Amino acid sequence: KLQPVILSGGKGSRLWPLSRECYPKQYLELYEGNKFSLLQNTFLRLNLLDNLEPPIIICNESQRFLVAEQMLKINVVPKSIIIEPVGKNTGPAVALAAIAANKKGQDPALLILSSDHVINDSKEFTATIIEGLIHAKQGKIVSFGVVPTYPETGYGYIESLEELTNFKKSSSIKRFIEKPEEDRAKQFIQSNLFTWNSGIFLFKASTIIQEFNRFAPEIIHICKKSIVSAVSDLDFLRLNNEIFQKCPNVPIDIAIMEKTDKGTVVRLNAGWSDIGNWESVWDNSTKDNERNSTKGNVLLMESHGCYLRSEKRLLVGLGLKDLIVIETDDAVLVINKSSAQKVKHIVEDLEKKN
Ligand code: GDD
Ligand code: MG
Repeated sequence: KLQPVILSGGKGSRLWPLSRECYPKQYLELYEGNKFSLLQNTFLRLNLLDNLEPPIIICNESQRFLVAEQMLKINVVPKSIIIEPVGKNTGPAVALAAIAANKKGQDPALLILSSDHVINDSKEFTATIIEGLIHAKQGKIVSFGVVPTYPETGYGYIESLEELTNFKKSSSIKRFIEKPEEDRAKQFIQSNLFTWNSGIFLFKASTIIQEFNRFAPEIIHICKKSIVSAVSDLDFLRLNNEIFQKCPNVPIDIAIMEKTDKGTVVRLNAGWSDIGNWESVWDNSTKDNERNSTKGNVLLMESHGCYLRSEKRLLVGLGLKDLIVIETDDAVLVINKSSAQKVKHIVEDLEKKN
């Protein structure tokens, strides 16, 4: 049995002003002509896999109805929607899913998915997951590595024991480094042994629970208590705030991946991207001859390399270069494309002011 687990609790603040705390990016229809959101596509692209269970989705209290509604629209009844009273990052979220999925000792393989990825080639993605399953069944912690193209500091890096190629698709992991500084990232991409961590993982529930016991006992302890005391409410499993509050806030990458010796990496070559910021949205959009992309009520002339998006008002650009302009009801963002990563800081500043 293959149990998909969708992590959907992120705030997506780098896609402000479209992505808001109460309506983060994973629920948006980001692309022209694609009528599904990133979250919906996360599950829909699995439809070629056999023995697939309905998903377990883990999200924040404020997003629970959005999740339920979006699943209903694609006729999916989740196995459960686990509601976190507060976000404690992906470590605890994975632990919660593992405990919930392993309740009756069934020990399914868990496929951990982010809800903010675009994957262009579903067929290749499916084949890669099937390859990963072989290793997961042998008790490995499988991650999926993407050949890096630039020294991104917002990703984890995987050093494999052997170089991954079209013919050698998997290897044991030698080292896992979450979000390195830029000079280290630059070094890493010089070597053919390094891949980007795609943020997709595959392992048996019992394997990951065992690794949590070894490396993050406090997380697994609190998560077990949280699941036992959780209240079922319609399709939702609502965690107790007082208990879960005390859980350490750690991503799975640091809690487990940097420490385990059971890591195996499988090469993922399926047109993967993390829609982390507006530059990556532009990058993944269809563009005209001048490498511009627009969405909504937009008129753009004599410009190059721009992304203009309007939710409502007419947005007009003339003579622009490498700019991103996002119009929404109550806020307009104008930035240089190269500043796209920093939008997160604007949001933090705005939050402080309010
Ligand atoms: N339920 C829940 N609770 N989900 C969460 C939480 C939380 O507290 N925090 C984040 N998530 C969800 C996000 O919505 C997203 O779908 C996924 O977990 C990953 O979180 P991100 O916050 O987007 O992580 P990241 O992009 O900075 O880093 C991860 O992904 C990169 C690739 O996209 C790491 O795994 C990196 O190593 C990796 O390279
Ligand atoms: Mg991400």
